[in-house]
Amino acid sequence: MTTTTGTLPASFQRFRRLRSSEGLRSLVRETRLDPADFVYPLFVTHGDNVRAEIPSMPGQYHLSLDQLAGEADELRSLRINAVLLFGLPAAKDDEGREAYDPEGIVQRAVRTLKQHAPDLVVITDLCLCEYTSHGHCGVVRDNQVDNDATLPLLARTAVVQAHAGADIVAPSDMMDGRVAAIRDALDESGLVQTPIMAYAAKQASAFYGPFRVAAESAPQFGDRRGYQMDPANAREALLEIEADIAEGADIVMIKPALSNLDIIARAREAFDLPLAAYNVSGEYAMVKAAASAGYLDERLATLEVLTAIKRAGAGIIITYHAKEAVRWLS
Ligand code: PBG
Repeated sequence: MTTTTGTLPASFQRFRRLRSSEGLRSLVRETRLDPADFVYPLFVTHGDNVRAEIPSMPGQYHLSLDQLAGEADELRSLRINAVLLFGLPAAKDDEGREAYDPEGIVQRAVRTLKQHAPDLVVITDLCLCEYTSHGHCGVVRDNQVDNDATLPLLARTAVVQAHAGADIVAPSDMMDGRVAAIRDALDESGLVQTPIMAYAAKQASAFYGPFRVAAESAPQFGDRRGYQMDPANAREALLEIEADIAEGADIVMIKPALSNLDIIARAREAFDLPLAAYNVSGEYAMVKAAASAGYLDERLATLEVLTAIKRAGAGIIITYHAKEAVRWLS
């Protein structure tokens, strides 16, 4: 009598043995998400009692300063330890003055958060695009973003943010030499302990679309391809990261995350600094839109995406999904 097994090859691996129960799957799981992996972005705005949902990013809000204590409490209860601040200024001008105004919205938000929740790690996005009337990340001269004229303004912004109490400053402008300029300015101001998280390999990506609605920061002419990276280039991304490390970055970031898992993995192999990945607004909005249309299971899709980013090598994940992910993990 021949049995079913009798017809099988003499030897093959039964991978399914370790997949047969959640207990076994959990025992052999290689990658686990933890609330401490996440950085949650916040958009702060002037006004009172503002909690306005951002249409392009369902579940994310413009928040006035009075909302921040409650936000910090919620994050603490979820064991999310870090936020990344973006500001909506009262007015925009050609040189982005509110970015480096000590009373600018982000500086005020930092002070409010640190006062209420001293243990929360407050990271400040450092860029001019939310503050400039033309929407570019630097000073515009002759219809071009002038790299070297922008550096002193970024350096000044970093010092003002750090003086307000920012735990980490995070330049996202993609000007060449800005990490060195910021490090020098911080050190000269006695802020030697303030770390720099550099948006090191940041591409000119279509996936920032929903954010630009949220931050009202779309360029009013042209695009960002003259300073942000070409998404086609991986070797250049590694050079950008190497340069930022040489200039003094303490943490390096790759952005967007999901379209750059190869670069995350290569950077993890090549460099030993803490590595962050930014799961950007478009990645978030895609999941939200598909879920609300009933095309995918939001919980499973979100956790799969975040797990993949971590598995690729990012130890720090900046994500709008942070709160929901933590709820789903527990
Ligand atoms: C500012 C900045 C941007 C993002 C982070 N910092 C927008 C841009 O470069 O156009 C994008 C974040 C997101 O899409 O979630 N330069």
